[in-house]
Amino acid sequence: MRSFSLLLDFKTGEFTPHDRINMRKLSHMKGMFFDTESELQILRKEDPLIYSFSEKILPEENGHLQLATTTIQPGKIGEEYFMTKGHYHRRPDTSEVYLGMGGEGCLLMQTVDGDFDSIEIRQGVIAYIPPYWGHRMVNTGKTPFIFFAIYPGDAGHNYGDIERTGFKKILVERDKKPVLIDNPRWKQRD
Ligand code: F6R
Ligand code: ZN
Repeated sequence: MRSFSLLLDFKTGEFTPHDRINMRKLSHMKGMFFDTESELQILRKEDPLIYSFSEKILPEENGHLQLATTTIQPGKIGEEYFMTKGHYHRRPDTSEVYLGMGGEGCLLMQTVDGDFDSIEIRQGVIAYIPPYWGHRMVNTGKTPFIFFAIYPGDAGHNYGDIERTGFKKILVERDKKPVLIDNPRWKQRD
């Protein structure tokens, strides 16, 4: 394999050239937001884009690194801010680094044993996600929230466990401010 470089647009979060752009609309995240009634009401009228992520396809092997940028749109479903689905890595003993590029948001992390942590992210903040921590990003601002991610080539994604349990805490807007509250629907993994 040869070396290469990419151009990263800090305004849109897109790579040039990129291999794949994934779009996640509300219909792709059924049941992930707390307020299912608001979700259904919105889906009856439209299917808004929640986030997109741009990936460079690299070998899914130990020794390589994967590169991705994500752009989460501003908005809420009921009181809950737009967010990513969130995942553990398929190889759970792998870590990840996120770098905030634009907008503002929050990184939510949890382990399968029920430990929870969060880090506020804005432009220039680097967050280190250690092995075994599931992770989700949330846009708490009024503009697109853009961040860059680097993770091991063979990390992979495990979405199923987050789909089953949800996150222990969720980010909602109260008095125009983001507030982290316990997720009444959170289930500890069996
Ligand atoms: C990769 C990673 C990010 C996310 C992206 C979309 O391990 O953490 O590149 O894949 O932000 O979020 P998900 O994958 O949760 O839909
Ligand atoms: Zn990840």
